[in-house]
Amino acid sequence: MSERIRVAILMGGASSEREVSLVSGRAVMEAIDTARYNARPVDLGAVGSSVYSCPAAVSGVRGRAAAVREAPESIYNGAAVLAAELTDKQSLPDIVFIALHGRYGEDGTVQGMLELLGIPYTGSGVLASALAMDKIATKRVLESCEVPTPAWTSVTAWEYARGIVPDVADECGFPAIVKPNREGSTIGVTVVHSADGVRAAVEEALRHDTSVLIEKFVRGREITVGILGAHDLQMLPIVEIRPRTGFYDYEAKYTAGLTEKIVPAPLDEPVAARALRAAELTHRAIGCSGMSRVDLIVPENGEAPTVLEVNTIPGMTPTSLLPRAAQAAGIPFTDLISRIIECGVEEGAR
Ligand SMILES: Nc1ncnc2c1ncn2[C@@H]1O[C@H](COP(=O)(O)OP(=O)(O)O)[C@@H](O)[C@H]1O
Ligand SMILES: [Mg+2]
Repeated sequence: MSERIRVAILMGGASSEREVSLVSGRAVMEAIDTARYNARPVDLGAVGSSVYSCPAAVSGVRGRAAAVREAPESIYNGAAVLAAELTDKQSLPDIVFIALHGRYGEDGTVQGMLELLGIPYTGSGVLASALAMDKIATKRVLESCEVPTPAWTSVTAWEYARGIVPDVADECGFPAIVKPNREGSTIGVTVVHSADGVRAAVEEALRHDTSVLIEKFVRGREITVGILGAHDLQMLPIVEIRPRTGFYDYEAKYTAGLTEKIVPAPLDEPVAARALRAAELTHRAIGCSGMSRVDLIVPENGEAPTVLEVNTIPGMTPTSLLPRAAQAAGIPFTDLISRIIECGVEEGAR
């Protein structure tokens, strides 16, 4: 019997989506094909995350180094511990399955570390991961490829501190939606209906990031397109998302029964074809690998489906959107995991 491939499933982490990641990681651990893979879970939080939650006093340029010298055991270096864990001779993995969502996981940082360590991993590479996490950078790429995306403007913390507030009415129009540039799970997001609400919404978003995306709020149907592969892509059936509360926020995303998911989405054929085309162009333009899930709105005014964002590591439980779409395409959850690992193996050490 040939040796099974050793897989370290990386989960948890320190982002705001830590809990969601643990659920994904455990679901992958449970469903992985044990005849082919010898898997073990690695909780990035458990091996140390305080490099991110450093008290302000020790996070400055000098503060951190000084604190490490004075009391090394009190300042935990998560990345160093993770590197040691993954390169330990006894447990060296053949490939890392990254089941992390959000910053320090889905954003290219962990991918970069794995490249330095020479360990193959699942999903998109450094550039695609970083681009997709940055909603503003994503929109610039989409516009350069003529992929429809809602009208937008942006403001940084530096600008806002100097009294610069975008003219939303002029640049994208109301209602508008204000989001932290690099968050997920609808965290820090506010819909504003007039210029009066802009400042409070920007301040809320700035609590989560140093730059803010302000976008035209597009009324319509929300859909998402799962894609497998790097070059030879498999487009999965479109899923329509109908939040019962009217807004796809954190609660609607993660509370059972609050969101209706319809696969395949009941769309007219030309609309579906345009949505699939926009999603495929997005995946290719960003340079995604292994998998992605592109979120779109089908505007009620009949305009072309418009791309909101691309998720490079979407939720990975059997009832999450990408696995649901794969299921509808005849790919059970266990096979989906194998497909994602195979794609990572093909990419090799990057
Ligand atoms: N421009 C928009 N028009 C209408 N609804 C939007 C728009 N942008 C975001 N939303 C809503 O907010 C949710 C979260 O926004 P999204 O850009 O996907 O960020 P994330 O999922 O990373 O938090 C979407 O699923 C959608 O319901
Ligand atoms: Mg989204």
